[in-house]
Amino acid sequence: MTVTREASQHAGGATSSLVLTPAVVAHRGASGHRPEHTLGAYRTAIRMGADDIELDLVSTRDGVLVARHDLELSTTTDVASRAGLAHLRRTLVVDGVEQEGWFVQDLTLAQLRTLTARERMPATRPANTSYDGTEGVATLDEVLAMVGVESARRGRQVGVMLELKHPAHHDTIGLPLDEPLLRDLARHHLDHPWARVTLMSFEPAILRRLAARTRLSVVQLLHAHDRPTPEALDRIDDYADGVGAHRSLVLPRDPGGAMGAPSTLVRDAHRRGLTVHVWTVRAENRFLPTDLRRGSDPAALGDMAGEVAALLAAGVDGVITDHPEEACAARRRDLAAAGH
Ligand code: G3P
Ligand code: CA
Repeated sequence: MTVTREASQHAGGATSSLVLTPAVVAHRGASGHRPEHTLGAYRTAIRMGADDIELDLVSTRDGVLVARHDLELSTTTDVASRAGLAHLRRTLVVDGVEQEGWFVQDLTLAQLRTLTARERMPATRPANTSYDGTEGVATLDEVLAMVGVESARRGRQVGVMLELKHPAHHDTIGLPLDEPLLRDLARHHLDHPWARVTLMSFEPAILRRLAARTRLSVVQLLHAHDRPTPEALDRIDDYADGVGAHRSLVLPRDPGGAMGAPSTLVRDAHRRGLTVHVWTVRAENRFLPTDLRRGSDPAALGDMAGEVAALLAAGVDGVITDHPEEACAARRRDLAAAGH
């Protein structure tokens, strides 16, 4: 068991305090409870006790970073109902995948501000649809401002884990993500080595660039199909401080879909001084190992705490989750069991 209570290496400034590790990171905010990436989703996560919030970043046509997972907007906003934006519908190939719809890169911030957010998975999370239409698309600047206010109000520094989406694609369309990112961080005085800010991407090139320009933590994201061999981890160690691994890389499932024994990834990463965050832990049955499901409804809540407990036992440094309240509760139980 590696649960400890210690001073965060990231914490700094007036709101620095003891923080719990492993960290609970709210994936796109408390996206199990609110439409993802909205200020409401982030605030809810902070209220639930999340140590950090995770946000994905893409660029508008005029170079403003906004919190969205997809370049295409119709899955998570009401863009399709906006007659004034109908002419912007088109087909676009991004990283080899052809998509049709409305793309953030084609809209100015002013145009994006006319949209409202909606739930990505209405069949799985019907309750969240009651928030559809109530909030707009948030800019990175707005999220950082909100984090500053909430941190001061609660007396603890809430962290941000920023994922840069499709950086090479953004480079090719003349909207590189680096400059607006560093500008926004500097505006909020979050560009110093003690800021609780982590920069993440699946693409090593932008992480190498940013590692050369900042002292912030850098995390290399790994897909389920990636092979974190010793050689691969050595390469990552050249520019990154940690890895953000698909949960199956730490806790593989057996052929029947049940939770299996932990891999050696945490040990191998820690030997190199690399941290390990795991994504994405979700409470609904359809996302859980078969042995942690409750009943047969794929949208019903299963035993997510069981998966978190197994990840904590495997020694991870952070759990990235749509349900931060469940992860915080599981962590509290682990701390209590360890006598803290
Ligand atoms: O935090 C990493 C995780 O968010 C990566 O997956 O697709 O949810 O951005 P995705
Ligand atoms: Ca992400």
